[in-house]
Amino acid sequence: MSEQDTTPTPGEAASKPRTHRVLSGIQSTGAIHWGNYFGAVRQYIALQRHGAAESRARGGQALYFIADLHALTTVRDAALMREYVTEAAVTLLALGLDPEQATLFVQSDVPEVTELTWLLMTVTPLPMLENCHSYKDKKARGITADAGLFTYPILMAADILAYDSTLVPVGQDQKQHIEVTRDVAAKFNGHFGAEVFTIPEPYILDATAKIVGTDGEKMSKSYGNTIPVFDTPKRLKKTIMGIPTDSATVEEPKDPDASTIYTLFALFASDEEQRELAARYRAGGMGYGDAKKALLEKSREHFAEAVARREDLLAHPERVEEVLRAGAEVARRKAGDVLARAREACGLRRAPRA
Ligand code: AQP
Repeated sequence: MSEQDTTPTPGEAASKPRTHRVLSGIQSTGAIHWGNYFGAVRQYIALQRHGAAESRARGGQALYFIADLHALTTVRDAALMREYVTEAAVTLLALGLDPEQATLFVQSDVPEVTELTWLLMTVTPLPMLENCHSYKDKKARGITADAGLFTYPILMAADILAYDSTLVPVGQDQKQHIEVTRDVAAKFNGHFGAEVFTIPEPYILDATAKIVGTDGEKMSKSYGNTIPVFDTPKRLKKTIMGIPTDSATVEEPKDPDASTIYTLFALFASDEEQRELAARYRAGGMGYGDAKKALLEKSREHFAEAVARREDLLAHPERVEEVLRAGAEVARRKAGDVLARAREACGLRRAPRA
């Protein structure tokens, strides 16, 4: 769990669906990977019953979006952007996001959010953005820092505040951006009225806050160390069998806690399976190749049903399109209400109806 006392445990959140409006987004920047899945998407699915009919009637809701506007800071090819948006939608639905329970939409289908971004920019101190790790890290790695990358946390704040979100399931890397959201919302409320924006809480699970990639560092597309959730069996095998290891011989005992293969295996395995593999590591007589095979097998089993659902969705793109269209309608209605509230609070005219 996150360190925040106010963040409910998964059990609490699930048992109080009516009190939470859950929101999160995922960028359309390429194949969704194990880091995205364990760090965020699995929580989206666990929390989606906040949107189920009986909880909706009490104000509970779950909204998830594909962050194509955020992705524009890195994807500069129109055909690729379209492909990634479809791929992200298909992946989320295949992994178990249920449009009967949650609202799924594309970020740019809700233009209210970009207007809200401007309102928030006017109260955001520059040093707050200059301090953001993700901006500093990318800049340090030589990625051109355009205004989009720099102001990304404000667009993210608008994404969250536009729906009166209370709970935001994310990986650890997004924690600071949620803090920015809270600060910016508090600043706006301080200037224009305490009730304009709802202050959200992050929802971060300790065990999956930072999933490691094939090199043992945080799994991240920009580090080139990802394992995509859906890859061809051949490529998946190549990726897993290629995970670097130390030079211990088969006979030598090995430390499971220092092994990327074991760390990844633990994501899929029961406690007993973890204990079993850990004992084999410590006993010696097992090569890393066997551990890699065990990881490959477990991950294939875990995603087998999702792979089948994905095939079905790919054969019916009209179903995916309809989910996104209906989702955008729900999202726009809510974002429109919040934007109108914010405009009024800061003295802007009521926007004329189209
Ligand atoms: N390694 C990770 N461990 C835990 N959570 C992670 N997330 C991403 N990587 C990890 C979480 O996934 C959600 C979607 O993140 P995103 O939209 O930023 O996805 P991304 O662009 O695919 O993330 P990358 O690969 O890490 O991209 P770059 O390299 O561009 O930074 C978020 O909740 C995130 O925390």
